[in-house]
Amino acid sequence: DEIEKAGYPHFMLKEIFEQPRSIADCMRGRLNVENNSIQLGGIEDVMDDLVNAKRIVIAACGTSWHSGLVGEYLFEYLAKTPVEVEYASEFRYRDPLVGEGDVLLVISQSGETADTIAALREAKKRGALVLGICNVVGSTISRETEAGVFTHAGPEIGVASTKAFTAQVVVLTMMALSLGKRKGVLSQDEMSKFIKELSKIPSKVEYILEHNDESIQKMAGLFTYAPNFLYLGRSYNFPVALEGALKLKEISYIHAEGYPAAEMKHGPIALIDEMMPVVVIAATDHTNEKMISNIEEVKARKGRIISIMNDENSDVMDLSEFHISIPTTNDCFSPLLTVIPLQLLSYYIAVNRGCNVDQPRNLAKSVTVE
Ligand code: G6P
Repeated sequence: DEIEKAGYPHFMLKEIFEQPRSIADCMRGRLNVENNSIQLGGIEDVMDDLVNAKRIVIAACGTSWHSGLVGEYLFEYLAKTPVEVEYASEFRYRDPLVGEGDVLLVISQSGETADTIAALREAKKRGALVLGICNVVGSTISRETEAGVFTHAGPEIGVASTKAFTAQVVVLTMMALSLGKRKGVLSQDEMSKFIKELSKIPSKVEYILEHNDESIQKMAGLFTYAPNFLYLGRSYNFPVALEGALKLKEISYIHAEGYPAAEMKHGPIALIDEMMPVVVIAATDHTNEKMISNIEEVKARKGRIISIMNDENSDVMDLSEFHISIPTTNDCFSPLLTVIPLQLLSYYIAVNRGCNVDQPRNLAKSVTVE
């Protein structure tokens, strides 16, 4: 056990720090900057079906469901393909309207989640093309899907998913880009810009880990006993707000909610007072102005603002009690960067609270019952 942790106190921390490599592994042999191309061998044979698909339905659970939500934004923006994201458990039990011409894409780290397997079987029975994004080679989902892409993140031991999430988002990004290219939505020039930027993500993740680990650890000390947390994001970073809140709940047992920032005024704003830490993910340029006014609303109610932002965003910095700077990237790739500080924040808070980080109470790495 100790050897496998490679000097880290927990698997989760090891896996967080592995991300520059796991993301690069996921891109290896697929993302080619020189040729300006993306090759996803596992779905090459079904590319025409994807081009002709009426829509893609994504079904997953937990963190994989969050990466699916990022996927929805990616496919709709980069490939102009309509996407719906379903909880696998709900999809399965409501007589879903899915059939020929639809693609069901299941996402699962383990490939063994019972609800996701059931959703896959249901959609297959109804005539949809069933594809998968999986981490575990040889798993039930990888065997039962008709085609798919492995995440190649390596074994994930910590119950709370970290490197599997970023690898799933990378796969979804590569799928959306290659579909966008095939459909003629993206020009060669646009592709080239996206591919170049995507190839820089591992070094940007490395930068975040190097420059923020200590400050996040210190900050975590101040919020160890907070009873509640609110996470706000917009657009691509709304799913990251959900994921940040889930990470905190899972391993520190602090009640946390993730919300689309503008939806806050329809409820959660009533909870904000000087005791409430509010994590704002303010690294999506095209919604920046709106985000700033959401942050002002939090500030006016004396919420304690922790922002994840780009350095030059002085408006957000001025409003924040704490800020975590991340490098700039294209809006649609930002979840791959913004999620990193949130993983670290939940980790250090859980450690401070003396929680069993790698094996949280009541949770399992793979939920094989429906
Ligand atoms: C469990 C795990 C989560 C995971 C979810 C889905 O709840 O604790 O970390 O996100 O299952 O698992 P999957 O293997 O299908 O991605």
